[in-house]
Amino acid sequence: MTAAPRIQPSILAADFANFEREFERISTADAAHVDVMDNHFVPNLTFGLPMVERLQSLGALPLDLHLMIENPDHWAPRFADLGVFSVTFHLEAATAPATIAREIRALGARAGVALRPGTPFAQIEELLGHFDQLLIMTVEPGFGGQRFMPETMPKLRQAREWADRTGSEIWLQVDGGVSADTIGMAAEAGADTFVAGSAVFRGEPATEIARLRELAADHRH
Ligand code: DX5
Ligand code: ZN
Repeated sequence: MTAAPRIQPSILAADFANFEREFERISTADAAHVDVMDNHFVPNLTFGLPMVERLQSLGALPLDLHLMIENPDHWAPRFADLGVFSVTFHLEAATAPATIAREIRALGARAGVALRPGTPFAQIEELLGHFDQLLIMTVEPGFGGQRFMPETMPKLRQAREWADRTGSEIWLQVDGGVSADTIGMAAEAGADTFVAGSAVFRGEPATEIARLRELAADHRH
């Protein structure tokens, strides 16, 4: 059976003018998911190093960084150096993924790799031993509030089969359109770590986090 489900609200859906209060509203979560976008890898712009440094200094929750940026070879270690919990970069943007993973780990963070919906599992399989977390995107990266893509579930199943077969303890994370309607599908396919932005922040976050956690546990792989 997969690990107890982890719920990681995406602060992309939070009130950017009051992060201290927003972190309090999600204090029962396992981590806060921080979407770093550079307006090149994706057509949207969010947080840079100084902003993440400030969020980290609040010390409210472990920070799970999702880098949707070009040149993670250069940038990922700089983000890891801020003392965050995990740093995930996109395979599609990386030149030397195993080297980046090694650097992230050496700086004390968990190393994650993300796949766009169209990137097949086969492209990462041989490198997975270098990573602590695999992020299967369930929307095209760039924006919150999009529709969950069920067509990404076979890829998640492949990843779960790989982890079961090899005995790997890698975390399998889904991100995009995760809600009470879709989390069960992702849990059944083998995800154990769930990012949710609009589903958490549009209601009462503590209630939504508890509900998502329970639904994911009910559908545990
Ligand atoms: C999309 C981001 C997601 C986004 C999820 O590129 O990676 O983390 O915030 O938002 P929802 O849960 O609203 O789809
Ligand atoms: Zn994300």
